Amino acid sequence: MDTVRIFDTTLRDGEQSPGATLDLPEKLEIARQLELLGVDIIEAGFPISSQGDFESVKAIAATLTKASVCGLSRCTPKDIERAGEAVKNAAKPRIHVFCATSKIHRDHKLRKGKEDIIRISVESVKQARGYVSDVEFSPEDASRTELEFLADICAAVIEAGATTLNIPDTVGYATPKTYGEVFKYLIDHVPAIKARGIILSSHCHNDLGLAVANSLAAAENGARQIECTINGIGERAGNASLEEVVMALKVRGDFYNIGTNIDASKLYPTSRMVSTLTGLVVQRNKAIVGQNAFAHEAGIHQDGVLKFRETYEIMSPESVGIPQNTMVLGKHSGRHAFKNRTVELGFSLNDEQLEIAFNRFKTLADKKKEVFDEDLEALIDDQLELDSQVWVLQGLQVTAGSNTIPTATVTLKDTNGELITDASVGDGPVDAIYSAIQRLTGVSGKLLDYRIRAVSKGKEAQGEVQIELQHADKVIRGRGLSTDILEASALAYLNAINRLRSAAARESRLHPHAVVEHP
Ligand code: KIV
Ligand code: ZN
Repeated sequence: MDTVRIFDTTLRDGEQSPGATLDLPEKLEIARQLELLGVDIIEAGFPISSQGDFESVKAIAATLTKASVCGLSRCTPKDIERAGEAVKNAAKPRIHVFCATSKIHRDHKLRKGKEDIIRISVESVKQARGYVSDVEFSPEDASRTELEFLADICAAVIEAGATTLNIPDTVGYATPKTYGEVFKYLIDHVPAIKARGIILSSHCHNDLGLAVANSLAAAENGARQIECTINGIGERAGNASLEEVVMALKVRGDFYNIGTNIDASKLYPTSRMVSTLTGLVVQRNKAIVGQNAFAHEAGIHQDGVLKFRETYEIMSPESVGIPQNTMVLGKHSGRHAFKNRTVELGFSLNDEQLEIAFNRFKTLADKKKEVFDEDLEALIDDQLELDSQVWVLQGLQVTAGSNTIPTATVTLKDTNGELITDASVGDGPVDAIYSAIQRLTGVSGKLLDYRIRAVSKGKEAQGEVQIELQHADKVIRGRGLSTDILEASALAYLNAINRLRSAAARESRLHPHAVVEHP
């Protein structure tokens, strides 16, 4: 069976989703998980775009041992130098250079002719080859580029040293038939592709909801790398969803006869991690990993599944890592049972993280008789986010109700480890809490979104609050978890402020002026 490489761009194209900014520890956490999942190449960022991106690519490159680590770069010497520097310590470094090729981009964005575009691309690929032997080239907006010109530029960059040719459907305009034909045309008209064993790659956006179908059509027509993201996150309507591509190839192996190196049983834990850390909620009916993906509501379906599961299920929830054992832990559960359950849920915690998680679980089990899988998942996701706290909530007292002015008294441990307390009134209890926190931290922001949900069932369920806060031109999200929803609200706000602080500290300390637009 042939194998297609999975190139994950969650940390680059995925992070370009509005509101999905991740900080360095979060990116590292996701990168490690992607490697465990079996992703072949991880596009870790766009190093020239900011110092934060540069640092993240560098840290991921230094950490991963199996997956290739790739940095994106425009066709400019500075970009390529920066990408080369960022990936240089990777076990398997790759530089990905791109230049737009379609007429609309040539005329209106680049204002350059075909010859210039070929020249710049060739020079850039040669420069990139000076840093690494694995160079990918993307003719941006390839699916709207004249086929003859596309073949010319592909032949030229292969000659210059490109080893992978990625053919992006940048604006999600292609259809499966037309996109597949582009790959066939290139294989037929660029002899060097076959002669030199060049890998063709798909990169599909989902503007018409066709990203996965287009990626599969590319694979049918010779693509042996598929670029995709976890949960399909990405620019605008997103990218092809990794879990959908992988499961389509797996479940319909009879038709495609193309495998991947992905361990499908890690798809769900990875999806959950990315959703938690980016704050981008997975829609309930999302294929493979959505809450309803394996739920049978209709009586006839339930009856069929009970009699013979395959009547209505083409794959099992277990096969994609959705935990089926709803074993309930309680306050008498020991370390061993706790650790086993975290492993079964797809977490790989180190000893220190496990100890903290276990203590938090014990505290929760004291408040709540039964601790469900959903509680554990939320608790550990929450803990992974708390690693970079600057201000810590130490006390919260709220007065609210009819005919009362809502008032909150908040105590925080500040950046010097000292306890500080202040109080404020507000339009409601949450407003009062947020005002008090603003007074204590000196960081104000506009609350753009506030969402609350019960993590598991029952009236003792933990509440999870997710917020979006605007501070100057930055939108930052925060998440808080507690059996007390006012405490969860305070924790979410503090989480956002802490993230803002650490992002600002990193940017200003390292490179104050380095902001370049993403492609
Ligand atoms: O969509 C696109 O064209 C891209 C390129 C940078 C590959 O993301
Ligand atoms: Zn893209």
